[in-house]
Amino acid sequence: MIKATHLSKSFGKKVAVDNISFMVERGEVLGFLGPNAAGKSTTMRMLTGFLPPTSGTALIGGEDIVEGSLAARRKIGYLPENAPVYPDMTVLGFLDFVAEIRGFSGAEKKRTVGETIERCFLSGVRFQTINTLSKGFKQRVCFAQSILHDPEYLIMDEPTDGLDPNQKHEVRGMIREMAREKTIILSTHILEEVDAVCTRAIIIADGRIVADDTPEGLRARSPVQGAVHFTVHTGEGESLLQELQKIPSIRSLEVLGKTQSELTVRLHPKDIGAPLVNDVSARLGQEGGQVTSLFVEEGRLDDVFRAITASASKKEQE
Ligand SMILES: Nc1ncnc2c1ncn2[C@@H]1O[C@H](COP(=O)(O)OP(=O)(O)OP(=O)(O)O)[C@@H](O)[C@H]1O
Ligand SMILES: [Mg+2]
Repeated sequence: MIKATHLSKSFGKKVAVDNISFMVERGEVLGFLGPNAAGKSTTMRMLTGFLPPTSGTALIGGEDIVEGSLAARRKIGYLPENAPVYPDMTVLGFLDFVAEIRGFSGAEKKRTVGETIERCFLSGVRFQTINTLSKGFKQRVCFAQSILHDPEYLIMDEPTDGLDPNQKHEVRGMIREMAREKTIILSTHILEEVDAVCTRAIIIADGRIVADDTPEGLRARSPVQGAVHFTVHTGEGESLLQELQKIPSIRSLEVLGKTQSELTVRLHPKDIGAPLVNDVSARLGQEGGQVTSLFVEEGRLDDVFRAITASASKKEQE
């Protein structure tokens, strides 16, 4: 388990992380979201012992990051931001070096490095110097060093940054698989990644936690969640709209687009979970309009993210 209590970090007058507390259990993948400069990387740097906190502390599997920094760091795999890997080493040389630092030697070192190279799709570049690799491959090398010693705790700062869509998919799959027996914290600016891998997300703005919820819970804060969205071919848009207004489970109706032949509408339900979609499709059927699309909106994480972080920075300015 990871337990952060009242973690703060100031750089001169700048408060980068302001009294953050949270817990992450084994099996969880916690996503850190937040605007640029929110304090995500600084929080991760403190958790991994890279930066000392100004105040507060954290426990990594019971080891205090301040008092027992070395013991805590042994349990952690850390993928820092922007893949800081030694440019003059070959991929194999670098991973050998990391393995030695992590206490491997002999046949066990060879096997561990070999397996990690396979897992991270680095076989083709194992003898290549790191500074001649593309950005995505450098990121993979850095990912490889973070998982090499099979750590219980993984802290990954934008793990899929710079990867192509296929590699993003692979890495997300690996994270999901590792999550079963590990405790993972990752940061990301890709909101679809939160849905793809995270069991929980913390939104940080101006160094503070402004939301802590499951991806579903966050989406449920979207104003469009549960709304019925449809497009219909119709000559008589107005009468159709009047008919729809009569459906009792509708709270409000929003016309999103209207041409001579087509009408696009969003209907907001009175209660989330109300059977609005059945009522709407039945009524559309009765009215005889040709429906070209009809779906229930799930709510978009990016809308929720913008609403939460914008209101947090507004409060900050007040
Ligand atoms: N070593 C440092 N010295 C001075 N200020 C710093 C230092 N490291 C971070 N900061 C400041 O702390 C704040 C938080 O930075 P941090 O890197 O944690 O943000 P972030 O949430 O990771 O942003 P991004 O999404 O851009 O990666 C920023 O204002 C940054 O300029
Ligand atoms: Mg960062």
